[in-house]
Amino acid sequence: MTHWQKSAITLAATLVLGVSFMCSSACGSEGIAREPFGHTADGKAVDLYTLTNANGMEVAVTTYGGIVVKLTAPDRQDNYADVVLGFDKLEGYLAGHPYFGAIVGRYGNRIAKGKFTLDGKQYTLATNNGENALHGGLVGFDKKVWRARGALTREGMTLTLNCVSADGEEGYPGKLEVKVVYTLTNDDELKIDYTATTDKATPINLTNHSYFNLAGQGTGDILGHELTIDADRFTPVDAGLIPTGELRPVEGTPFDFRKGTAIGARIEADDEQLKFGGGYDHNFVLNKKGNDLTLAASVYEPKTGRVMEVYTTEPGVQFYCGNFLDGSNVGKGGKVYNFRNGMCLETQHFPNSPNQPDFPSTILRPGEEYRTTTVYKFFAK
Ligand code: BGC
Repeated sequence: MTHWQKSAITLAATLVLGVSFMCSSACGSEGIAREPFGHTADGKAVDLYTLTNANGMEVAVTTYGGIVVKLTAPDRQDNYADVVLGFDKLEGYLAGHPYFGAIVGRYGNRIAKGKFTLDGKQYTLATNNGENALHGGLVGFDKKVWRARGALTREGMTLTLNCVSADGEEGYPGKLEVKVVYTLTNDDELKIDYTATTDKATPINLTNHSYFNLAGQGTGDILGHELTIDADRFTPVDAGLIPTGELRPVEGTPFDFRKGTAIGARIEADDEQLKFGGGYDHNFVLNKKGNDLTLAASVYEPKTGRVMEVYTTEPGVQFYCGNFLDGSNVGKGGKVYNFRNGMCLETQHFPNSPNQPDFPSTILRPGEEYRTTTVYKFFAK
């Protein structure tokens, strides 16, 4: 029996018994641990799973919202530090927060006025962002308790999360069955595979809303992070952050991140789009044809040397630099999250696609399978 087979059997047995699994020293500290993380207001039990790879990198995910609570990444000295914003306890998430680490669905980002027409029928969604629907509505996937199962696979430690969204939930048509698999590889990658099926045609746009600070969570703003996005165009927005429908070249604008540029370098420029977003809060049109898994963006933090690369099968990425963080969230270790203390790279289809026939379609139909993959890879240089 190979080492991998032995590990897989031990893991299966131990997870069934509801205890932690840790591998022997032959594979470092590789394993999955499960612990109780509290209860929701309506009494549902919530767990926290911590995946650890052979290098000691850790990713902790709670079954509440599928939220990435902790993610460690190496610096130049190979010190792993937590680089995502979040809370130590479930209560922090239950009290309300701006989607820290969460799985976002059914529809990531905004649908204008919470309305769309599909196959001749108009649908009205729950609105939760002024007159618009944002990130799935009042009780989006970020607030659901997901079913979870851990496993050791050839690719790494996995956590499979499942949920069902009822027909009509938040105004969306069709019973949607969703699966999200988090895989932590021994190459310090967090891979996220999203799949879903429906029994009625419906829009769907799933993403993860982790806020990163590669200098370490709670260490200040992200304006010195150097960002590269492989996008010649972005989707400009109106004052309500709804795309106008235009695909605008980034050339000659503060939105040109085709060469690595500090996020803060042009953020105060006199630019209408930056004013509407209060900084960067825009969807970038990735330079790709088809839906292969390709490098969309990378971020470099010069002090620690940490790098994050983002690969995706999706056509877009929302670059949001924490413009709405205002110090009201006290996070892990008592750290206060102030203005622009974290940044998100939310891989996605374009916002408001159900109302923009020229954008790539987000409609999933019965008999089809929704399937996207995003990989966040960490190293230092
Ligand atoms: C949106 C922002 C929003 C943030 C938190 C981002 O995806 O683009 O406008 O404030 O999520 O909800």
